[in-house]
Amino acid sequence: MPEPRDISRQAFGALPDGTAVDLYTLTNTGGMSVSVMTYGGTLQSVRVRDRGGDVGHVLLGFGELAGYTGDAYRAASPFFGALIGRYGNRIADGRFTLDGETFRVPVNEPPNSLHGGDHGFDKAVWSAEEVRSGDSLGVRLSHTSPDGDAGYPGTLRVTVLYALDDGDRLSIDYSATTDKPTVVNLTNHAYWNLAGEGSGSVEDHLVQLDASRYTPVGPTHIPTGAIEPVADTPLDFRTFRAIGERLRDGFEQLARAGGYDHNWVLDRTGEPGLAVAARVREPSSGRELTVSTTEPAIQFYTGNFLDGTLYGTSGRQYRQGDGLALETQHFPDSPNHPHFPSTVLRPGETYRSTTVYAFSTGG
Ligand code: GLA
Repeated sequence: MPEPRDISRQAFGALPDGTAVDLYTLTNTGGMSVSVMTYGGTLQSVRVRDRGGDVGHVLLGFGELAGYTGDAYRAASPFFGALIGRYGNRIADGRFTLDGETFRVPVNEPPNSLHGGDHGFDKAVWSAEEVRSGDSLGVRLSHTSPDGDAGYPGTLRVTVLYALDDGDRLSIDYSATTDKPTVVNLTNHAYWNLAGEGSGSVEDHLVQLDASRYTPVGPTHIPTGAIEPVADTPLDFRTFRAIGERLRDGFEQLARAGGYDHNWVLDRTGEPGLAVAARVREPSSGRELTVSTTEPAIQFYTGNFLDGTLYGTSGRQYRQGDGLALETQHFPDSPNHPHFPSTVLRPGETYRSTTVYAFSTGG
């Protein structure tokens, strides 16, 4: 029996300053559900069937708002499920030059700026409205970041539409405009564990990335500027490989990052529009995730900084490697690498980006 399609809204507590936070839950006719909270525009929960039809949580997160606002979370700063802006990943030395003017942005991971700083879009309370269209249910979030916010130029008006359809596809559509030249690189920082959040390491998950090249990083995780082939390295995921298979090979890039935490350059055909970037299979549950995007790159991160200080939705501890993130994006530190695809947005232009997370059970 198909379940009724549904959008529900519930109060999800308040921030220390009293600002109320809401949680929207989208449920499709197959019983898959996605919850998004207005704080950080954060994906708080994704529940999806396994091969036996049992629905389980596959997203790392917390059952209560306090999980996202407490001291332990602030110290670990994992950005669980959050919208990331204005600039996903790192900007070297918290500095870039645009049209001859130098801008300084927060150095929250010395010496660099990470994910827009300590008060990025993941800390904003977004306005929300429900959207219904065909077999899809959604919540459209909006946020205006004022000129000079976290050092970035221009008033940036951002909308993000999360939508769930009956084909178990969760899509995220980002758009933004500015009134001054600026740089933008938006993403979502969902961590997945297809065996179930809190069930342990993702090392047995099989991953495939449609990418022949990546951007190697230096000692502080900033791209060196090179674009290198993945061939003959543990970063070669052109065919399905288990995450744990080559993690301990001693390859310098992996040793430096404590695991996978790199920007893969997608083998797009050159056509604009959605292209498959990544596929993940989890053998025990049979769950599969396919990530498609309009972005040129993806950060595949294996939760290297999870250090056991956080306990998730099911009450179980999150240790290193207990989740994986697939952050669709432009390249890290692009404002300081003119040969990388541009992240500049100018007045009159509209930034647009779409990523689709499609779930299935392969067997
Ligand atoms: C991104 C970065 C990682 C880490 C996480 C958040 O994936 O590349 O190095 O900072 O965000 O913890």
